[in-house]
Amino acid sequence: MCGALVGIGIVLPSLSSCSTLASIQTNITSGTVAVPKEKFTPESKVVLIKNAAAEFDIAVIEISPETYKAFYMECSHESTGLVATKSGFFCNAHGSSFTLEGKVKTPPATKDLKALPVLVESNEVIVTI
Ligand code: FES
Repeated sequence: MCGALVGIGIVLPSLSSCSTLASIQTNITSGTVAVPKEKFTPESKVVLIKNAAAEFDIAVIEISPETYKAFYMECSHESTGLVATKSGFFCNAHGSSFTLEGKVKTPPATKDLKALPVLVESNEVIVTI
């Protein structure tokens, strides 16, 4: 999405950092995905799980070194895919935005993002899909 926006000359300030987010690939419909903690950096607390088997990617957020959250990148308004940035999530359909903790920041969405279970281990964050 970021590339498409840049390609047509539209770059919102909040989206300017989205191309630098770390990501990992998977293709499972259920189970767990391990995200190495080393993927999170002081510059970016967001890692994307790009899932070829699912409609939406998953964003994993480092809240603190011991606390992580994971969200489906699906807008809670009308189920459009979200754009992830270092500072939050944005929906291009109608302009809703969400904080890094998945809370609605800008309507028309009224529900927070759907969270996924996470288990924090010494070197990995395990996300259950
Ligand atoms: S579908 Fe995201 S704001 Fe409407």
